[in-house]
Amino acid sequence: MNYLGFRVGYQSLFFGLAVMFLLSATAKADDATALYKAKCVACHAADGSGTPVGTKLGAHDLRSADVQKMSDSELAGIITNGKNKMPAYAKTLKPDELKGLVAYVRSLAANK
Ligand code: HEC
Repeated sequence: MNYLGFRVGYQSLFFGLAVMFLLSATAKADDATALYKAKCVACHAADGSGTPVGTKLGAHDLRSADVQKMSDSELAGIITNGKNKMPAYAKTLKPDELKGLVAYVRSLAANK
C-alpha cells in the first residue's frame, strides 16, 4: 500500500468509528423515549404535563420549576424508590435506563 492508500484507509476507519459513535448515542436517546412511552406516559403524559389519572394521584408537571429544581439524584431516587402514589422502578430499570429517564425528564422542560 502506498502512502496515500494508507492515509485514506485511516480516514475511513475514523469516519466509521465516528458514525458508530453517533449511532449508539441516538440509540440511547431512543431507548429513553421508548421506556418513557411504555412505563410513564399513563400518568405523566407524553409532554410531562400529567394525565388526568396521574394528576389525580398527585403527579406534578415534570416541566415545572418545582420538579426541575430537584437534583438528578433526587429525580433518580423518586423513580427508583417511588414516592406516595408514584410506583418504584428499582426492580425493572437498569442503571443506565434510569439515567436516560432522568435526562429525558430534563429534556421535557427544554421542549416546553
Ligand atoms: C401510576 C402512575 C405513575 C406512573 C406509571 C409513573 N409515575 Fe411518576 N409520579 C406519579 C405520582 C403520583 C407522582 C407524585 C409523587 C408525590 O410527590 O407524591 C410522581 C412523581 C414523579 C417524579 C417527581 C416529580 C413529581 O411529580 O413530584 C418523577 C421525576 C417521576 N414521577 C418520573 C416518572 C417516570 C420516569 C416514570 C416511568 C418510569 C413514572 N414517573 C411513572 C405517578 C406515576
